[in-house]
Amino acid sequence: MRLTSRQEELLRHTFIDYYPTADFLENPLIIDRAEGLYLWDAEGKRYFDAIGGIFVASLGHRHPRVMEAMRVQMERATFVPPLHSISNVTLDFVELVGAITPGKLNFVKPVSGGSEAVESAMKFVRQYHKQTGSPGKYKFVSRYHSYHGGTSGGMAASGNGSRRSKFEPQMAGFLKVFPPTHYRDSFASWDEANRFAAESVEDVIIHEDPDTVAGVIVEPIGNTGGIITPTDEYFQILRGICDRYNVALIFDEVITGFAKTGRMFAAQTFGVTPDLLCAGKGISSGAIPLGAMIAREDMAEAFSGPAGSNVNFAHGHTFAGNPLACAVGIAVINEIVEKELCAKAERLGEYLASRLACLKKFGVVREIRGKGILRGVEFTNPNLGKALKKTALNNGIILRIDPAWFAVSPPLIAEEADIDEMCDLIEKSIRDALEVART
Ligand SMILES: Cc1ncc(COP(=O)(O)O)c(C=O)c1O
Repeated sequence: MRLTSRQEELLRHTFIDYYPTADFLENPLIIDRAEGLYLWDAEGKRYFDAIGGIFVASLGHRHPRVMEAMRVQMERATFVPPLHSISNVTLDFVELVGAITPGKLNFVKPVSGGSEAVESAMKFVRQYHKQTGSPGKYKFVSRYHSYHGGTSGGMAASGNGSRRSKFEPQMAGFLKVFPPTHYRDSFASWDEANRFAAESVEDVIIHEDPDTVAGVIVEPIGNTGGIITPTDEYFQILRGICDRYNVALIFDEVITGFAKTGRMFAAQTFGVTPDLLCAGKGISSGAIPLGAMIAREDMAEAFSGPAGSNVNFAHGHTFAGNPLACAVGIAVINEIVEKELCAKAERLGEYLASRLACLKKFGVVREIRGKGILRGVEFTNPNLGKALKKTALNNGIILRIDPAWFAVSPPLIAEEADIDEMCDLIEKSIRDALEVART
């Protein structure tokens, strides 16, 4: 799209996340309107939003049920101070989230997004160990190629070197292991690479001294590494290791939560229940900032004592449990449950995977990964994504694109015909990108 001089000037007074302004100015996108599966830019051009904002618009943009829930809540209360009160609708949200999570994961603290959920979970785990006889446990093990948020703790847990190194020294006590993709060419099978990657976590814990390790935090499916999708056994091995050393297993489900992988949470898809789960993004379908830290209820007992004992979780955020946001979260969850969108994600995901498999005809696809409607395509050419960024926008489709891969996660309101439209646009954009790369 063409920028007006005012837009160009204003873009120099702000920044686009993780994006050099000069690059953005070459290929700008200013959105004016959003509805369902589509976005419209300031010039009226329509884009298929194949990534639901950025893994956020789980029910599409401006879903009528979500809009109505906001309108109703606006008439009651839009802010309740979390420091000395809680709203009714926040309690309803706590109950509903507790009911859809696996196992005993029903201690729920609503917050304003993914980073806050991750920060809350890591602080919860550190304080938990201090209060349950293991005060020396403070370290976290996480993975390279991961992203856990833009705040200091989330960044320290993240494993994307060049983004983090700008802010070093980082918070102390964060250790890294490699995801299974790092070992895939060193083993005869994907299963073996996963086994090795999971078992390496135990080596790190032992060599660090288990009495110092508080938690392991992983995204069940890793976006920033290109939709890295481990085996079920990988998570079973992690679960066993964490149990052996009294280490909390945290699933960062900010992307994978809320039906994308074919179940409400990837924990259910992989059949392994963590001790804490972080949620965000799709929980509000993008209507309002919302996230949640969810913990095992028996762990939460460590934070309650008799009145006057001053035993509490020493943590909070002004907008935590915001009533308007919680009303939205309830509407999203009820829509997912009532319309059986988890089953739909699984069904539609199979169709999506079959359409993405057609891209192999271009001879540039190394792997197609993911579960449900969360899918990623890795290129054999580690730079093709650069050209694809431009051609996708030209063709009116928004994808999550890295130089070596791209990801899609269409909203759950999509039908097969929409997947066809989306995949036709992807095919055209890859054909165009190959043309650009040739010239
Ligand atoms: C896996 C994961 N965790 C945490 C975050 C941070 O969430 P937010 O940007 O809402 O703070 C993100 C954001 O992309 C994410 O992908």
